[in-house]
Amino acid sequence: MNRITTTRLKKMKQGGEKIACLTAYDASFAHILDAAGVEILLVGDSLGMVIQGQETTLPVSLDEMIYHARAVRTGSEKALLMVDMPFMADATPEQAMHSAGRLMKEGGAQMVKLEGGSVLLETVQALAARGIPVCSHLGLLPQSVHKQGGYRVQGRDEAGALDMISDASAMQAAGADMLLLECVPATLAAEITRAVEIPVIGIGAGPDVDAQVLVLYDMLGITPGKRPSFSHDFLADSGDISAAVAAYVQAVKGGSFPSSAHSF
Ligand code: KIV
Repeated sequence: MNRITTTRLKKMKQGGEKIACLTAYDASFAHILDAAGVEILLVGDSLGMVIQGQETTLPVSLDEMIYHARAVRTGSEKALLMVDMPFMADATPEQAMHSAGRLMKEGGAQMVKLEGGSVLLETVQALAARGIPVCSHLGLLPQSVHKQGGYRVQGRDEAGALDMISDASAMQAAGADMLLLECVPATLAAEITRAVEIPVIGIGAGPDVDAQVLVLYDMLGITPGKRPSFSHDFLADSGDISAAVAAYVQAVKGGSFPSSAHSF
């Protein structure tokens, strides 16, 4: 297998080499991203919003995730393929095991991403014990948008920050191979990144994390309506999709993205 592995990503963290990640939903874009050197392709359940035009990610089904994962797998050769566990496909550890198995066997996922902290401890332990790499998504949880009261920065207060720090180390101890922090103050994200050995991907989490991810359609400026303040339209700067993705990879690797204007 020529694809990037979790071992390679851990070595990149140890060596201080930044990791570039983008969402992908189909074979054609996956091919462009892979060729530009994006190391992780995330088949995000954001596809519910940017592909299907839904208001939230909640309606996305496991079969839809598998359909898009398979397309991204077909279109790429090198990048690690991470696939989102859709809403409630991990409601119990048994269900998570079944869903992750399908994402890997039918979708070709190398890693599954689960939204949530300590509530998923047993689930992450069970998945890791069965050889399933897990990325634990903390901070703003789009699948919990109704509970979190909207798309808001998380961990601004001391209690929220302490909970996130403790969730991060609990997830690492449970066997997670990666963390993703969404919409988290930059100082908190930096503290968590220093505290764990596994790579930390940030989105709206400042520059001092190991990897950056953006929703592809946000960074190409084609998501309808208001786009997140932490994103940047790389297509507007370059006028060509392949060049825009290459510019993103270069900006992540060189540390010029995200800037303080894209951070909380
Ligand atoms: O679904 C998705 O695209 C994600 C990113 C926002 C990180 O989870």
